[in-house]
Amino acid sequence: MTDDVQISTAGGIQTIRLNRATKKNALTAAMYTAIADAIEAGDANPDVGVHVILGSGGVFSSGNDINDFLATSKGASVPTPVLRFIRLLPRIEKPVVAGVDGPAVGIGTTLLFHCDLVYATPGAVFATPFLDLGLVPEAASSLLMPARMGYARAFEMLALGTPFPASRMVEAGLINAVVSASDLEAKAMEAAQALASKPPEALQAARRLMRGDPAEIIKRTDAEAVTFAERLMSPEAREAFQAFLEKRPADFAKLRQKG
Ligand code: COA
Repeated sequence: MTDDVQISTAGGIQTIRLNRATKKNALTAAMYTAIADAIEAGDANPDVGVHVILGSGGVFSSGNDINDFLATSKGASVPTPVLRFIRLLPRIEKPVVAGVDGPAVGIGTTLLFHCDLVYATPGAVFATPFLDLGLVPEAASSLLMPARMGYARAFEMLALGTPFPASRMVEAGLINAVVSASDLEAKAMEAAQALASKPPEALQAARRLMRGDPAEIIKRTDAEAVTFAERLMSPEAREAFQAFLEKRPADFAKLRQKG
């Protein structure tokens, strides 16, 4: 159990709120578990028709907790809850609506490609700086981002690490609408209510057809996870994590000199 994720259900809508604003909603193993438990329980609960994912404190999520990345880079195994979560994303059965304000970094952006409706504020910023951390894309983003945004934009985000403001994500086809921060949650809930009033079996069947074969997506997730785990152990990644936590720029040149 963790207080860093808050779950509530009303009117056929399950709301999953990331609630660790002091750490910019960085996701810990306990948070991945809480979210995955909620999604599985909601999918199995006939009283839930739709999942809604929200951030808090003007932040969606700063991605995986870098302290956990650093621990893995020093020899700890990749936490099982992370793998469970990213393998669950393509298998979610009910529609997912997300409301994004502020930064959405790493998995904070890549999980959105598994959502069905995304609303964002003018202050939302989407970033996938995997390469700058010595890592590779995850959560099937190497497949879903080029497919959804086109290769050029996906490469710009995933390799160059360029953060995209909400306006570019609208052009890229990820976001349904940009709304003010004060209207964001009402907009997401309004869309969720509209979905919750649809015939549920037809909605799930339509969604399954539109999202494609989850096995194909999980195949990519698993392939990425192998390389990601190798990269986590690399001196490059360790330097990047340490630099972030020490609030200094990463120095990859010193690794070249040693090599
Ligand atoms: N993991 C662990 N701690 C994190 C974190 C993360 N992913 N993101 C933020 N934090 C912590 C900071 O270390 C800081 O902790 P402190 O108050 O104890 O020093 C606190 O959250 C506030 O973060 P800060 O960087 O000061 O906020 P900001 O408003 O200047 O910047 C972000 C916000 C999201 C742009 C910035 O925190 C960031 O880039 N985070 C890392 C994102 C990332 O690379 N994630 C992994 C992707 S694979």
